[in-house]
Amino acid sequence: MAVITGKAPGKIILFGEHAVVYGQPAIAIPVAKVKATARVFPDIESKPGRISLQALDIGLDTHLSDLSPEHPLAAAVYLTLETLQLEHIPSFVLQISSTIPIAAGMGSGAAISVAIIRGVSAFLGRPLPDSKVSELSYEVEKIHHGNPSGIDNNVISYGKPVYFKREQPIQFLKVKKETHWLIADSGVKTPTLETVSDLGKLHAGNPQYYDGIFHKIGLITQKARQALIEGDNPVLGGLLNENHALLRELDVSSPELDRLTRAALDAGAKGAKLSGGGRGGNMIALVSATKIDAIKKALYEAGAVNVISTKLAKESQA
Ligand code: MEV
Repeated sequence: MAVITGKAPGKIILFGEHAVVYGQPAIAIPVAKVKATARVFPDIESKPGRISLQALDIGLDTHLSDLSPEHPLAAAVYLTLETLQLEHIPSFVLQISSTIPIAAGMGSGAAISVAIIRGVSAFLGRPLPDSKVSELSYEVEKIHHGNPSGIDNNVISYGKPVYFKREQPIQFLKVKKETHWLIADSGVKTPTLETVSDLGKLHAGNPQYYDGIFHKIGLITQKARQALIEGDNPVLGGLLNENHALLRELDVSSPELDRLTRAALDAGAKGAKLSGGGRGGNMIALVSATKIDAIKKALYEAGAVNVISTKLAKESQA
């Protein structure tokens, strides 16, 4: 049997993070320049059913049976096996690698789960559809950060720009005009679990106040949906800045993220905001194609450890 590969892109949230956990809409796009990969191949030397797991990036080289079922990598494998209900499972090796920065708001956890579910199900001869891959990776997301909205597993499993609202059918966005984005990593690692749970406590202490902010973010996201489809940069830029200001009120920004957003705007970005869980990780800037290099340079000068450029292509969706 040949090596089977399961892949998944990273993601970036354009609008609505955190508020989406509380039922407001959010918009996210896949980022194909970074990806998680699961390589699966037969282990002819072991007895049937023996599953080896190697994630050399994080120094993991073990057997599935030696990991807690709650371990996110193990959970992704177990959920896949439970779903497939096969009578016989051959022994195999699962090698996981990823170029998606960890704890940086780019969906590294969800992408690794998606790659594993895809790789293992395909290796076992029963590749799962995107909808099922998304559903299973959502279960693993719950282990990563308690109360996930579901946006990460959806955008990553389908690999398409999404307008997402909890408990509602996913909507894919088909844009009429391309937009260019820079994604700058502050270098500070902050697990989403931390910011989501801190905000949960703040919300519990003053639900009216925080629901008010979430509602305002929801309105911004609704407006941004149309502006993104039309590629209306001036409107999108203003909405990004408003969204960032509200995220600051939620106390999920940081001096580094504020400095990077400022630097992008000063260098000519149309708008900028933190992206994902916040307090670290990445920020995004909407840029015109002619200013990509200058704004990239400004972001590095302001302390970014890595800057990725990505574009939301016209008609990129079906
Ligand atoms: C994480 O990528 C986005 C958050 O809104 C959490 C979630 O939606 O589950 C912060």
